[in-house]
Amino acid sequence: MSYTSNMRRLFMHVGILAAISQTLPGVAAAQSRHQNSEQRVDALLARMSLDEKIQLVHGGGMGSSPIGGGGYIKGIPRLGIPDINYVDSDAGINVQGKHATPLPSPLALAASWDVNIARDYGVLVAHELKTLGFNSGLGNGINLAREPRNGRTFEYMGEDPILAGILFAARTQGAQSQNILTVMKHFAANDQETNRFTSDSIIDERTLRELYLRGFELAVDKANPAVVMCAYNLVNGEKSCENRHLLTDILKGDWGFQGYVQSDWIAAITNTRRAANAGTDEEEPGSADDSLPGPAGLHTFFNQRLKEAVRNGQVSEARLDDMVRRKLRSLDRAGLINIPTSPVGKIDTAAGDILARRVEQNAIVLLKNDPSGADSHPTLPLVPSSMQTVVVIGGHADAGVISGGGSAGVPARDGNAVTCGTPGAVDPFIHQFSLCATWYKSSPLEAIRARLPGKTVRYLDGKDAAAAALAAAQANVAIIFATQFTTEQVDLPRLSLPDDKSDPANQSYDQNNLISTVAARARRTIVVLEQGTAVTMPWLNHVQSVLVAWYPGVQGGPAIADVLFGEVNPSGKLPLSFPKREDDLPQKTIPTTALRIPYTEGLKMGYRWYDSQKIEPLFPFGYGLSYTHFSYSGLQAKRLQSGDVSVQFRLTNDGDRRGKETAQVYSALPANTGEPPRRLVAWEKVDLAPTEAREITLTIPAARFAVWAGRWQIPGGTAHIEVGGSSRDPHMLEVPLRFMSANLGVALHENGDEQCFGCRL
Ligand code: BGC
Repeated sequence: MSYTSNMRRLFMHVGILAAISQTLPGVAAAQSRHQNSEQRVDALLARMSLDEKIQLVHGGGMGSSPIGGGGYIKGIPRLGIPDINYVDSDAGINVQGKHATPLPSPLALAASWDVNIARDYGVLVAHELKTLGFNSGLGNGINLAREPRNGRTFEYMGEDPILAGILFAARTQGAQSQNILTVMKHFAANDQETNRFTSDSIIDERTLRELYLRGFELAVDKANPAVVMCAYNLVNGEKSCENRHLLTDILKGDWGFQGYVQSDWIAAITNTRRAANAGTDEEEPGSADDSLPGPAGLHTFFNQRLKEAVRNGQVSEARLDDMVRRKLRSLDRAGLINIPTSPVGKIDTAAGDILARRVEQNAIVLLKNDPSGADSHPTLPLVPSSMQTVVVIGGHADAGVISGGGSAGVPARDGNAVTCGTPGAVDPFIHQFSLCATWYKSSPLEAIRARLPGKTVRYLDGKDAAAAALAAAQANVAIIFATQFTTEQVDLPRLSLPDDKSDPANQSYDQNNLISTVAARARRTIVVLEQGTAVTMPWLNHVQSVLVAWYPGVQGGPAIADVLFGEVNPSGKLPLSFPKREDDLPQKTIPTTALRIPYTEGLKMGYRWYDSQKIEPLFPFGYGLSYTHFSYSGLQAKRLQSGDVSVQFRLTNDGDRRGKETAQVYSALPANTGEPPRRLVAWEKVDLAPTEAREITLTIPAARFAVWAGRWQIPGGTAHIEVGGSSRDPHMLEVPLRFMSANLGVALHENGDEQCFGCRL
């Protein structure tokens, strides 16, 4: 779609808004806010020279940020345009020595399925950004976990576009309420790290729209993030940042995205004309001189080269103005014009700790909880009065908790809790990312001991499996900690827990062997996993309980103990499927030499794959146990006049503890649509006292039922609505629902009225 037709669309949108606004005062106010903003932006643009415009569309180079961020655009003080300081912010702020809060990873946030927590996560990170003088946070990303061995899975929000899109939108609303520019990344289909600058994701249009772009579309619709970062990889033969179809036709055209597109950091752009005309609005990290080698010895494209391209007409002035206008608009709407950003004080570590613990308490997933031998009750929660001796084994549980690496890493506030096995080791590809994990000084052992005064709590480091097994045999319970390090730039060879050979930097023994050896002798075995993605569990049948703690953040130790001892009832649900073995994945191995990555499974990705292939996963998407029990009844579904769907059911806590359940609604679309067996369309996380029952009514936007057939359509025919506690709940309720076919156009809107930009809480 051309720039002109794009603007026409925008004006049409404004025109439609004007009509509605006669009855909706809130919309009228928003419309006039936006019109005023556009006028201010035009006035600023009119006063800018060519050099000033060019200055605003490229960064100053790697390391040019005066406050230590990852990217820096110099402002124009005479016009009140502030410097923009970008910094990675996926799980907290990635800047050294500033005591920012290391939160649980975005994947953990996704496991909470909690929109309010996601909003608070956004607010906290944005508040810390402002405190440190940054006005923009890079991330997190919402690429889908098509390939769970992807080293960046922990930075993303799982395998479902609705889950990822809604939670990211909530995070963005929180962040942008604090006058921060939120960056949404990596657009698009950046689903593995192997050959990440050159791999080409080959995806048919329907799969692209329904899966890999859907979360981004939802987030644009609901929260309008200021910035979209285009990715390193190619999509269907074109670099993402030079991909007109992705950036101009879809993002800015179909979806009406009004913010700006920023390039990812290394080799995302290879040609000035192509990138600018395809829709990239800013090059990062850029450089002061395009003719000198920049990051990784590569040249840059949006400084002198862009100026030349504008002069010789390869890039039109109108296009350059559009690039600048988008930036000014984003700054203006975020209230950042005339506000030079500077550090304003110190991080409130106490506030950070409170949120970090709350996120993790809600993110931990209980995967298994059986009684042992003659016990009549499940092994968890632990009851201190019934225990004399506990043995805690491995995973550096005496020292702290592990985190993920790369740009989404967050430095420890007070030094690394664990010494690296291979100090100085970096990734073998671009030699940029450390292979040594950061461990936060938040010891699970200490937190366990604090709950067992007067009892014997031993710790063994796990290197000697036989000694650990002996100690376990003498204890009431053995709690084994196992860890998995993952990082940007490096995919995992397999999902098996790493050992000293596969990850010598962070492991000094074979973790699977340790667990099996201990489980063979222990009276009760609990496994606590700290990880960045799915893991396989060859020992599963021999242990009683398994908790997934993800990368648990700076309060990981206490939060894990809160759940082990039942002070918090676990309520996390898996945001991605755990396979039994790698062979069960659609992509059996990650090709290292082939650059074309055909997404041959199409729509059958994640749980959609296991369901359609009838493969039983180790644990399905949406799965997670509680110390109480929930039952579902009375499902009804009807279509509303608006086309939305109203779903009603009753959820009862029929156990004996207070607990939260994430009730999930799936839809099985009519068989002739060629859709996989089910897709997530909504959920609600509900807190219920023992014996309490609640009638839940959800209004599910029609858009959630749409399929892409050249445009979005509601397929006519009989669909099924399913409700349960996971994507494979054996007690899933199901009712049929007839849909009339309907055309929804090229973009899906759930708001109907104002696009929420910088929503106030
Ligand atoms: C990553 C981005 C990150 C950027 C800046 C890139 O390598 O892909 O996610 O925001 O670096 O650190």
